[in-house]
Amino acid sequence: MEAKCVLQVGLTCLDIINVLGHYPEEDTDSRCMEQHCLRGGNAGNSSVVLAQLGLPCEYLGTLAKHKLSELIMEDLHHYGVITDHCVYHDNCQVPTSCCIVNDASGSRTIMHSNANLPELSCEDFEKLDFRRYTWIHFEGRNLKEILKMILKVEEYNNKENTKKDKITISVELEKPKMNLHELSFHGDVVFFSKDYAKHFGYSTAESALDGLQSKVKQGAILVCAWGEHGAWAMETTTKVKYHSSTFPPDKVIDTLGAGDTFNAGFIYSLVNKQTISEALTMGCKVAGKKCGQHGFGGIA
Ligand code: ADP
Ligand code: FRU
Repeated sequence: MEAKCVLQVGLTCLDIINVLGHYPEEDTDSRCMEQHCLRGGNAGNSSVVLAQLGLPCEYLGTLAKHKLSELIMEDLHHYGVITDHCVYHDNCQVPTSCCIVNDASGSRTIMHSNANLPELSCEDFEKLDFRRYTWIHFEGRNLKEILKMILKVEEYNNKENTKKDKITISVELEKPKMNLHELSFHGDVVFFSKDYAKHFGYSTAESALDGLQSKVKQGAILVCAWGEHGAWAMETTTKVKYHSSTFPPDKVIDTLGAGDTFNAGFIYSLVNKQTISEALTMGCKVAGKKCGQHGFGGIA
């Protein structure tokens, strides 16, 4: 059998990135310094980073049967990401984000639209041959279906005798409005975003790790990236906290997808049996590189 790969389950979409010298005022007419039309989406972004780091990686999600989805697929294939099990839907719009990147700070403001593309269902997911995967990452989205998918992986893991055949499950809780709380109990590795943590009243990553440790299963690793302050992680068995500072580029150009890049670096390290501390460093290194450029090309 071929080398096992990492599966990324979640969104891929179109990102229209408008680069402006400053954040625009309401009801004004601005000229962009640059405009890029690129593939985006958390799972898609993490996939192309993992593939460039040298891990076999598959992306699984839904796509609209539409000309614009070809651009998305071309990009995933360009980096060698496997897309064999993606599910296409007729008569749907392509999920698209209009993004403002402020060239003065690298900040990104995202306006996302997903008009009518159905989410991936467990029925789609369970067609996979789980023996092909060493790690499955779930971007927190359609909670009910994702919980069912995770149950399938857990059932598979329970039947596998040896540790090496079990699949590691990671989940990402990024958008507080999505009501994803239940998901956190199901990951071996749980990524909480800064936005998620802030929504629940935590003003630092460390306090978020302390507060959220009761929301993950025993033995899980909690991870919380915090923009220019770097990233933290905690192992729930020992309660030891780890931190990595950032690796800033010469100029912060575009932070869109920094978190997705960080997650990929972190997963990459743990798949390669590195320590939590090394994984944080790796995540911050690749995320730092990403912040110095638009898009995800040449990240490794
Ligand atoms: P998200 O894209 O989900 O908002 P964060 O802003 O938390 O993610 O960033 C994820 C990681 O990207 C951080 O832990 C850090 O390593 C890196 N990063 C983010 N912003 C910067 C920055 N301005 N300079 C250097 N690294 C950054
Ligand atoms: C960055 C990103 C973009 C996408 C948006 C979707 O993290 O994945 O590429 O447009 O978030 O929420």
